[in-house]
Amino acid sequence: MARFSAISRVSAGDSLAAPTDLRYQITPGGTLTGRLRVPGDKSISHRSIMLAAIAEGETRISGFLEGADALATLAAFRQMGVVIDGPNAGEVRVHGVGMHGLHPPGHALDMGNSGTSMRLLAGLLAGQSFPVTLAGDASLSRRPMRRVTEPLAMMRARIATSENGTAPLHIEPAAGLAGIDYVLPVASAQVKSSVLLAGLSASGETCVTEPARTRDHTERMLTAFGYSVRRQGARVCLTGGGRLSGCRLAIPADISSAAFLLVGASIAPGSDLLLEAVGINPTRVGIINILRAMGADIELLDRRTAGSEPLADIRVCSARLKGIRIPLDQVPLAIDEFPAIFIAAACAEGETILTGAEELRVKESDRIQVMADGLARLGILAEPRPDGIRIVGGELGSTTVTGAIDAHGDHRIAMSFAMAGLRSSGLIEIHDCANVETSFPGFAELAASTGLGIEEQRG
Ligand code: S3P
Repeated sequence: MARFSAISRVSAGDSLAAPTDLRYQITPGGTLTGRLRVPGDKSISHRSIMLAAIAEGETRISGFLEGADALATLAAFRQMGVVIDGPNAGEVRVHGVGMHGLHPPGHALDMGNSGTSMRLLAGLLAGQSFPVTLAGDASLSRRPMRRVTEPLAMMRARIATSENGTAPLHIEPAAGLAGIDYVLPVASAQVKSSVLLAGLSASGETCVTEPARTRDHTERMLTAFGYSVRRQGARVCLTGGGRLSGCRLAIPADISSAAFLLVGASIAPGSDLLLEAVGINPTRVGIINILRAMGADIELLDRRTAGSEPLADIRVCSARLKGIRIPLDQVPLAIDEFPAIFIAAACAEGETILTGAEELRVKESDRIQVMADGLARLGILAEPRPDGIRIVGGELGSTTVTGAIDAHGDHRIAMSFAMAGLRSSGLIEIHDCANVETSFPGFAELAASTGLGIEEQRG
């Protein structure tokens, strides 16, 4: 698909020998100490641009994540005529165009590696009066899109996928969207948000019922923009045809990025780390709950709110971890953090069992298989299952003998195995790490500044 090649990036599935390969080499041992702030929340950054663009008036955003995924969302709205100043050290100013002010982009919008951009934009653009195509990289083009196109079709949206139900998505203008009352078949905040965003331009009421509570940033942020959202238990509803008013948004640090350091400091003896201003939305704190259940020493300090989102400074000190059976209700609350949790499990005493997490197989990579393969290279017994994994804690080896770990272009796999070096007996080499840029720009430098022996190698 040459016409989408303007943005070049390393994609999942590229060969290890690809000239753009970014590798991490991790020297064993180390201690994580100090005080730092990880970049802004990715989910909230995407939503801040989307809602600000269709709001009336100006929105000022601080703490915006300048990673490739959120920048793909920002670029898409620029290509639809929205004037956006920045980002400049996390500050962005969006001159909103209102619900009907977007322009046809005239070419396909490149969502890169970002599932959130593609699924949420499918809903937001379904009710617009122009056709648009959403395309992505090799990894994103393998991920399931019918989970959004099916409910959107029930709302009378006209969206075509490939025969396999994958990207690119071709959206044609609809004659008018109609609200639906939709029960989500999977616990997915992206699907919930996509339907709610389509609901903004639909007639009548749009309701979504979730099988388990998922991140609620869309609902909170709509409220911050003055749009009424009603929640009753597991059901959330809004009425189409309203307007959003520009506002100020302060985005907290991303708990999903903090997760790597929470695990790293927990497993590295002698660690004592303070992570500043991390979002602790109750729909995102599975990582804290699970690590604490494993025996981690984590304290939440100076709890406060930034607009509609709660945050805190998080202090984490090293601790002896023990394996657990991960409670089912924590799975959606920690859905992006399992690669990091698997590293904690590998360093824990006894076995850790995860079930009910089949969604991990359709993330940026098949996170159950890719993590099991990498853990096996480190000599850890990791038994993949259709909906989870069993990991028996032990001594982490080195890749010097077994061969490098392949991150498969998945940012969270790369960062998780980087943390494993804190407890490994020898060097760990990880291939295909360039997509760390999608969610945690500056990861290697920041991790090195706290005590991880990480070196980047290109070529
Ligand atoms: C996200 C929702 C989750 C998560 C993803 C971000 C969001 O995906 O894995 O990284 O911002 O809504 P699902 O909705 O597929 O669970």
